[in-house]
Amino acid sequence: MKAIITGISGQDGYFLSQLLLSKGYEVHGILRRNSSMTQGTLDLLPENIRKQIIIHYGDITDGNFLSNLLQKEKPEELYHLAAQSFVGYSFQNALSTYDANIGGTLNVCNAIKDASPDTRMYFAATSELFGQPKETPQNEMTPFFPRSPYAVSKLAGIWTVRTYRDAYKLYMSNGILFNHESEVRGPEFVTRKISQAVAKIANGSHDPIVLGNLSAVKDWGYAKDYVDGMWRMLQQDYPDDFVLGTGESHTVREFAEAAFRIIGETVEWRGSGINEVGLSGDGKTLVKVSKEFFRPLESDNYKADYSKAKKKLRWEPETKFKDLVRIMVESDLRKLK
Ligand code: GDD
Repeated sequence: MKAIITGISGQDGYFLSQLLLSKGYEVHGILRRNSSMTQGTLDLLPENIRKQIIIHYGDITDGNFLSNLLQKEKPEELYHLAAQSFVGYSFQNALSTYDANIGGTLNVCNAIKDASPDTRMYFAATSELFGQPKETPQNEMTPFFPRSPYAVSKLAGIWTVRTYRDAYKLYMSNGILFNHESEVRGPEFVTRKISQAVAKIANGSHDPIVLGNLSAVKDWGYAKDYVDGMWRMLQQDYPDDFVLGTGESHTVREFAEAAFRIIGETVEWRGSGINEVGLSGDGKTLVKVSKEFFRPLESDNYKADYSKAKKKLRWEPETKFKDLVRIMVESDLRKLK
């Protein structure tokens, strides 16, 4: 079996490439050249694993590149993970987000249709499509109401995939994944920002963590569990759309509390809104709030109903919220040793 992963240098590419290699796949990854020649999470893989991955340098915004690659490789599976995936950034850079996430997805769909129609495709859709849902929990039938340029781009993406699936009878499945995090999560995302800062504080730093909306409610799971769900989506008789999540909701505030608990600190919250602070038992400021990290519109109130994936894919998240926080903080503590 041969699989191509777009976005292989991200968090999910890190776990998915290892999963596929363990199943005996020939794994190919698409990588954008950058001037510093860093390779994201690929650089974090053990050498013996990294050298098994066949890298193709190119960009998903280049349709010719994708068509030629698909024509040549004709993989059984393609996991389209590449995206501008930071929601906050999409408010400042909507057009480049649309170019990568809408144009890139259209290019992948066209390349499959024209050059390799037997390839099964997974598309990384997102819980952000729900915006601020009124119904709880959310499943595949919950209406979409995007509230960021990122989410708008993913709405175009999911509907492009559905349209190509129906019009050209292609095997293309959408994963509507709720937040999934890990020890290799990018530091711009709130969970890793917290785990890294907590590890520094445990090592003597006096800098508090400066955050935005502490009350945002998300459904956080472990990315390693979710890539197994992606793979299962491509092993079905028919393509379909699936929600993956944990069914557990937590605020950013609770994530921070759980992270500090790992290093033996109990956070006491004082004040509200922009003036809220989290204090340690001996009165040290551990958490502060700044307007800088608020978004023009928030998307939250998330809690996944993953019963369809449980029934059809036999998928369930294995890692609980508390364990996820522990994995992340302990990993960042080890890195500082
Ligand atoms: N990044 C960040 N930094 N977020 C903060 C901060 C902060 O300092 N303070 C509070 N937040 C809140 C955000 O407002 C948001 O509600 C929540 O923390 C999570 O933000 P992120 O970690 O940036 O992730 P996200 O939920 O916006 O999006 C992630 O998950 C989606 C669902 O799977 C990304 O991975 C998306 O690409 C993905 O689609």
